[in-house]
Amino acid sequence: MLPRKLSSFLFIIFILSCYQTIAYNIIPKPWKVKYSKGQCQFDPTWKWSVTGDSISEIQKMYNQFQVWADSSATGFFKPLETFEPCPRLVKIQLVRKEKELGAEGYRIKIDKSEIVVEAQSLRGLYYGLQSLKQLSFQAFHDKKSLPCGVIKDVPRFSWRGMHLDVSRHFFTVREIECYLEMLALHKMNVFHWHLTDDQGWRMEVKAYPRLTEIGSGREQTMIGHYYDKPRKFDGKPYGGFYTQKEIKHLVQFAASRMITVVPEIEMPGHCQEVIAAYPSLASQLDSVPKVLTVWGGSDHILSPFPATFVFLKKVLDETMAIFPSTYIHIGGDEAIKKHWRNSPKIQKMKDSLGLKTENQLQSWFIGQIDKYLVSKGRKMMGWDEILEGGLAPNAAVMSWRGEKGGIQAAKMKHNVVMTPGTHCYFDKYQHEPKTEEPLAIGGMITLEKVYSYNPQPNDLNPEEKAYILGAQGNVWTEYIPDFKQVQYMCLPRMAALSEVTWSKDETKYYPDFQKRVSLLSKMYGAFGWNFCRKDVMKL
Ligand code: ACM
Repeated sequence: MLPRKLSSFLFIIFILSCYQTIAYNIIPKPWKVKYSKGQCQFDPTWKWSVTGDSISEIQKMYNQFQVWADSSATGFFKPLETFEPCPRLVKIQLVRKEKELGAEGYRIKIDKSEIVVEAQSLRGLYYGLQSLKQLSFQAFHDKKSLPCGVIKDVPRFSWRGMHLDVSRHFFTVREIECYLEMLALHKMNVFHWHLTDDQGWRMEVKAYPRLTEIGSGREQTMIGHYYDKPRKFDGKPYGGFYTQKEIKHLVQFAASRMITVVPEIEMPGHCQEVIAAYPSLASQLDSVPKVLTVWGGSDHILSPFPATFVFLKKVLDETMAIFPSTYIHIGGDEAIKKHWRNSPKIQKMKDSLGLKTENQLQSWFIGQIDKYLVSKGRKMMGWDEILEGGLAPNAAVMSWRGEKGGIQAAKMKHNVVMTPGTHCYFDKYQHEPKTEEPLAIGGMITLEKVYSYNPQPNDLNPEEKAYILGAQGNVWTEYIPDFKQVQYMCLPRMAALSEVTWSKDETKYYPDFQKRVSLLSKMYGAFGWNFCRKDVMKL
């Protein structure tokens, strides 16, 4: 006989371990979960049905979802039938009177012989299905029944973003589709598409064909690190761009996964590729530059003269015609003002506008664009440098140089997205030792560090905190030459960020996350997605 104390201890361990294997393992962690008595033997024999309002819209959303869900190892998602009572039935339905679920929330009720997924909106249903997909994978993987219970879930923030730089390296339409699927699995809802930069312009613009004829190609690409001496290059021409038809397809592909695509058109700096194609837009021109082949910034900057605004407005018109997003991102970061300072004509213009500094001239420049976008019913967003010479009246700020800019903007009652380089830059290393990781830009942001982030700083009062729309992970691709490496840098850090942006801060607990992310990473594997295995546990 075991001593009484030891047997009670073993009994508690036994109960805890049962609980661990049968809890709902969902990322991002749902708001409220209530387990009840009983088990649900969820498997591919279940029937799937739709009932209630908007049946054809739900059918359409589900069909698209099912195609992808079935590429997992589960195959639980069967074609949808109209509702006929029977045991072992998944019911999907819209409910109208559940204010608590909001625009994106959902509820899943799991019973012995019925699972109900309900929401007020198609979007909420979609997120409910994403959670159910993770549960079906868990049931398949653990070969265990699920506990009966209820999940009620709503997101914390409305901006749950991921960015991708396609200028430094280009990714195909199929790869962007895959990236969008990665976002969708994590209930991320904004894809910030960094389409233009010194090293390549990637969007077809019909009014300005040279942007892609000239601006999308560079002579060669840097290999090794920027700080290597001597710097090395591969000697191979590099290029690529998306046609407007391809972009429309991807915007639609994203929308059907509840993702808004926010395009970024950089100005007035990070524009050497524009000046290579249209040198008349330069502020100072000793000779026509080529599309940049080294990483890092460029002294080239668009002039603040009328011709630049004619150009930018036409580019933005075509951008707005293919991107229905409320926000248009206009960059605004790291504009080197040397050519503005060197140009007597630009200095004269600055004086005649009554402006004292080049930062104020940049603010005036950005203010023109803000007015234009607002006149077209859109809103402007820019990196936090747009605060420097005075913030345009309607602008939202993306805070990347820490949280300072975001805090300042929120206090001024402007919307903010937090993407501080301390927690949200997925181009930095994710694991020590760096020498065992693929070459990265530098710095270190571990999975746990991402997980620890809270996008609402304590320096803000509750009213100011409401201006924080959410947070975003940034994926700059100087050191990310192919899509497999994009996946490696994002997964599983995107899972941590999804919990930062979706789940309540007070319910976050890293050891619990680590267990759930370990199961989710099995799903990454089933989809053929590359990911960093160093922080996931063997299950
Ligand atoms: C940035 O990382 N330059 C926004």
